[in-house]
Amino acid sequence: MNTEYKAWRVEEQDGDYVGSEKTLNIGDLPEGEVLIRVSHSSLNYKDALSASGNKGVTRNFPHTPGIDAAGEVVESSSAEIAEGSQVIVTGYDLGMNTSGGFGEYIRVPAGWCVPMPSGWDARTAMIYGTAGLTAGLCVQKLLTMGAQPEQGAVAVSGASGAVGSVAVELLARLGFEVVAISGKADHEKSLKALGAKEVVGRDALTQEKKPLLKPVFANAVDTVGGTPLAELLKQVKPGGSVSCCGLVAGPQLETTVLPFILRGVNLLGVDSVEIPLQDKKTIWQKFSSDWACSKTEASARDIGRAELDAALKAFLKGESAGKIVLDHSK
Ligand SMILES: NC(=O)c1ccc[n+]([C@@H]2O[C@H](COP(=O)([O-])OP(=O)(O)OC[C@H]3O[C@@H](n4cnc5c(N)ncnc54)[C@H](OP(=O)(O)O)[C@@H]3O)[C@@H](O)[C@H]2O)c1
Repeated sequence: MNTEYKAWRVEEQDGDYVGSEKTLNIGDLPEGEVLIRVSHSSLNYKDALSASGNKGVTRNFPHTPGIDAAGEVVESSSAEIAEGSQVIVTGYDLGMNTSGGFGEYIRVPAGWCVPMPSGWDARTAMIYGTAGLTAGLCVQKLLTMGAQPEQGAVAVSGASGAVGSVAVELLARLGFEVVAISGKADHEKSLKALGAKEVVGRDALTQEKKPLLKPVFANAVDTVGGTPLAELLKQVKPGGSVSCCGLVAGPQLETTVLPFILRGVNLLGVDSVEIPLQDKKTIWQKFSSDWACSKTEASARDIGRAELDAALKAFLKGESAGKIVLDHSK
């Protein structure tokens, strides 16, 4: 198929990485069983890394970022994925070194495609996107470890961010008392509206010399890594768990073994990218039914390709908040 389409494309220009709208050809997309007309994508921290030339995410430029995409299947050679059906694609190599959801078309392996849950549409799926999926996986891991509301408060770090905000609403919805940890003082009201019982500043997680602190959190979802995660581990009650998924505060984790061997604290790694498709389907199914986060859905912001540059730069400055959807029709 040789048809033109629009994409927000990042190019290297004298050592800088610059994104702009380009007209591309569907025939130049990578090989794959399924061609999808993307109606919506979702903005993630990883997209901001790709768009700024981070070689750990994207090796070769020019490149179309967008680790999330949802839309209609227009060609399929797979018996599993019907032409005309709606699908969700998140993670694997999408938007990293495979042309991603910031273009109006993607071509991907059938094994990357999750059929749209009934009653859902592409925009709703992309309100959650990889960030929502990750929040869901973090919460599911805590539940698998036996987390229950009666055990006490659950902390969420990076609470105003894309992953954190969904984690706050989901945990509150499941009956947990949520303590939102946020660097944005002006977000107290919106975090409480999502269901947080209490909002505390990031200074709750600044470096202390002591290897253990008063245990105040039964469990936690950490989206930032680095020193805040090390400090969080010191404050988790015996037998509690911390789901860890992010690194905005740094990839290093300097801790002692004391939270683990004296309090039996569990550090649970969460990956949303390379996990089996069935694990992604399970979380999408939950969000489309009993895990629906209506406040997140109501407060999501829609942007067009022309607004991508500013929105992605806000992620790198730690200034992004809530869920942002890319609508290709805007
Ligand atoms: N493991 C996976 O599969 C997976 C999937 C998705 C995302 N992630 C990772 O999860 C992390 C969060 O992603 P996101 O999309 O939610 O990003 P985001 O929207 O930028 O949210 C991150 C939040 O962390 C806080 N923060 C920013 N810089 C900080 C710093 N230096 N120290 C402490 N807190 C800081 C901010 O919240 P406050 O202002 O409220 O503190 C910010 O809103 C990223 O590292 C991302 O790569 C991992």
